[in-house]
Amino acid sequence: MATATPQKSVTHQSNGAGADGSPAQSSARGFPKTYPAPTQLATPTDLTPEQAQAVTDAVNPLIADAFALYAKTKNFHWHLSGPRFRELHLLFDKQATQILESIDPMVERIRKIGGTSVRSLTHASKLQTIHDDNDEFVGPQEMVNRLLLDNRHIAQSLRAASETADENKDLATANLLEEFLDLAERRAWFLYEVAQTSEAVH
Ligand SMILES: [Fe+2]
Repeated sequence: MATATPQKSVTHQSNGAGADGSPAQSSARGFPKTYPAPTQLATPTDLTPEQAQAVTDAVNPLIADAFALYAKTKNFHWHLSGPRFRELHLLFDKQATQILESIDPMVERIRKIGGTSVRSLTHASKLQTIHDDNDEFVGPQEMVNRLLLDNRHIAQSLRAASETADENKDLATANLLEEFLDLAERRAWFLYEVAQTSEAVH
């Protein structure tokens, strides 16, 4: 049975925490703070500023991670090789689309409570907690293993952020993140099963 082996190049930070354990603030150096928003973008809400900031700071790393995992999953969709090409090419494409479609609802939740989100891919890169993958070639089994680890990490982050939203009375964000948690666990489930099959094949 295959289990995902740790990806050497990845050092996941849990829940978007910085290296010093502090929350990954959306005020990445050189980029706009994502809370408080400029006056023109400060959408009124009945949440307190502290509650809105806590949710904004919890969700923005998830948005950055979604951009990063979308790019990684598409990268593997494009640069796949081997006898299982069709199966994995299609699986990665389906998962990438699902990840991409999670970005807009998460950003718009932040905007509804008066926060702001990433302005660019470089801004996202400052907030993401999964690592990009720039290897020249990755074998199909290793692709599956890496995506499995990343999706598990994102599921863990989604669960934590959902709890933060719930604790701060942002029930709509908590519910949305729970939906995406289910999808992340579904992606991890498929990848886990594919990993077992692929080891039997190779
Ligand atoms: Fe394609």
